[in-house]
Amino acid sequence: MDFQGRRERQLVKYLRRMLALKARSVECILKSGYENIKSGGTADEQICPEVGRLLDGFFFNKGGKGMKKILTLIMIACMMVGILTGCQGKNDVPKVSVAQIVEHKSLNEIRDSFHEEMKALGYKDGENIQLEFKDAGNQRNTLNSILSTFAGNQSDVIVAIATPTAIAAANYSEDIPIVFSAVSDPIQSGLIDDLQHPNKNITGTSDEIQVDKILSLALEMDPNMKKLGFIYNSGEANSVSNLEKAKVFCKEHNLTLIEASGTNISEMQSAFSVLLNKCDAIFAPNDNTVASSISALVELANKKKVPVYAGADSMVSDGCFATVGINYTELGKETARMVNQILKGKDVSEIPVKVFKDDLNIYVNEDTLQAIGRTIPKQLKEQVVMMK
Ligand code: TRP
Repeated sequence: MDFQGRRERQLVKYLRRMLALKARSVECILKSGYENIKSGGTADEQICPEVGRLLDGFFFNKGGKGMKKILTLIMIACMMVGILTGCQGKNDVPKVSVAQIVEHKSLNEIRDSFHEEMKALGYKDGENIQLEFKDAGNQRNTLNSILSTFAGNQSDVIVAIATPTAIAAANYSEDIPIVFSAVSDPIQSGLIDDLQHPNKNITGTSDEIQVDKILSLALEMDPNMKKLGFIYNSGEANSVSNLEKAKVFCKEHNLTLIEASGTNISEMQSAFSVLLNKCDAIFAPNDNTVASSISALVELANKKKVPVYAGADSMVSDGCFATVGINYTELGKETARMVNQILKGKDVSEIPVKVFKDDLNIYVNEDTLQAIGRTIPKQLKEQVVMMK
């Protein structure tokens, strides 16, 4: 038998996944889908979206040779999985596992709005969905072990918040759909080749940092700016990508860019202090390590009266001077909508990456504005959203 059609391959992949993971009882799922179809309804999409949809397609649209192959396959799978697992009540509830690299304001906002939107879509944890959440405390080993646990525990979808998480999750995408959240540069970080046509069982939301707009704002605030510091963790692909953009901008505008990197809070503090002594302003891109140490860094900067430009509103509310940024609550919600589509049977390849780069606001921290003794140029005043 060869399984050439797209739907056939989809089903083969799905059944293989279930068998490999000794997952939820395929027998139960198929039975309820089939029963529903026999009684004139459609396959129960909540119980088993992918198989339900496939069954619908084959019973009502295709039939013939394709159906025979599918039914044979289903019967074999039923027998094997029936023996392995049997019908197990609660295990039939889909499992969505969420991983986060580290706690900081922006990622927490994404995590919370994701959960809120899942609720709004009708999912109740413990009833019709099992939602699991784990944070890695910015430790790569912990991150990898969290994801290998998620892959082994029959997750139906893995949600990966931020780039390092998504990179760690990608190892398991052959078997489990991955939805990433707030990955600044999904292509450069090697997660996907084509944002419009995901072909690696990975899709998600992207917060493309508007480096040009942020640095133009810095120049507008201070036309005399000559030396710009760039603080980041060189182990974060998202920041490396923004560094490249910053280099291009600085070259075009005759600015000197000085970079400094660290992998934890104390390294960050010393790298940052070096920059403070050399630079007129500092750019902290959307780097997760920087974001989780930002309060300490801002304190140092304010003492020296050096403005820190950030890549996200959360960092401005944590004391950075200013940014031009997106709304992360919306991004978290969109991540949930993608998960919902997958649970309802849509293939990942049919869900393009959604890039958030419009509906931008200029954010300025009012206390920092005073602390560093700056004023907002007249032409900008109307557009600025002030934060405390
Ligand atoms: N875009 C970051 C990444 O690709 C994640 C992120 C979202 C972030 N919001 C942030 C990082 C705010 C720092 C600050 O990993």
